[in-house]
Amino acid sequence: MEICSSINGVRELAQKARAGAKRIALVPTMGFLHEGHISLVKGAQKSCGFVALSIFVNPTQFGPSEDFSRYPRDFERDARLCREAGVDVIFAPEAKEIYPEGFSTSVHVEGLTAPLCGASRPGHFDGVCTVVLKLLNIVSPDEAFFGEKDFQQLAVIKRMAKDLNLACEITGMPIVREPDGLAMSSRNAYLSPGERENALSLSRSLLLADEMAAKGAGTGEIEASTASYLAENSIRVDYVSILDPATLQQTNSPRGALMALAGFAGKTRLIDNRILTR
Ligand code: PAF
Repeated sequence: MEICSSINGVRELAQKARAGAKRIALVPTMGFLHEGHISLVKGAQKSCGFVALSIFVNPTQFGPSEDFSRYPRDFERDARLCREAGVDVIFAPEAKEIYPEGFSTSVHVEGLTAPLCGASRPGHFDGVCTVVLKLLNIVSPDEAFFGEKDFQQLAVIKRMAKDLNLACEITGMPIVREPDGLAMSSRNAYLSPGERENALSLSRSLLLADEMAAKGAGTGEIEASTASYLAENSIRVDYVSILDPATLQQTNSPRGALMALAGFAGKTRLIDNRILTR
């Protein structure tokens, strides 16, 4: 496995692999890898012969009062996990390699970025789209892999790829959960044992919502009951929304809809989602 911090270095390796008739995959991450990231690598290996994984804690997608400086980082551990998983190259640039002096471009996707995390984290998706487009331009992969836990991020990146005619397939991979249901996230590392217990209410509330939808409850009723359940479990709710998964617009029919949650366990902001059963 190669480790590159320069754009030229990773570009050359990807070009060499392409010259050897390999299909190229990119798995963009912010590091502090877990089973969710490894499942993206496994998905990438199924359809591509060369897998690049980027590790870059992207400053432009964090708000001023968010956790950029304390975001968990452990490069040695990440490198070991990548080696074990059979990643071909880690691209781990410094911030100045991605955002050199004078950098002044930002990518904005309209519409899909308005609700959910876009409403709570102004500018977040501009930072995500800008860095993802840069990574796609640097590596020129045939396919890039993203987790469905960040459902809105995946939808926004698919939109950007379509709108900008990117020659890269964008593939979503299912959420990976701990045995007790907690969706895997690098931010779970922040949780105290008590907060982790409270955080289980996110995935549990999605299952309860699914049961309510199956019994014919309406969107408003499910959203209200979910918000109360989360609050009872000491989660400070950011949003509880049932939306059309294609448009991320509100819908009156919960069956087959996206149920998306964000809330704080202590100071840690967690998200989770589920497509409610039809
Ligand atoms: O999902 C993430 O880890 C990040 O938002 C991404 C896609 C790597 C962009 O920084």
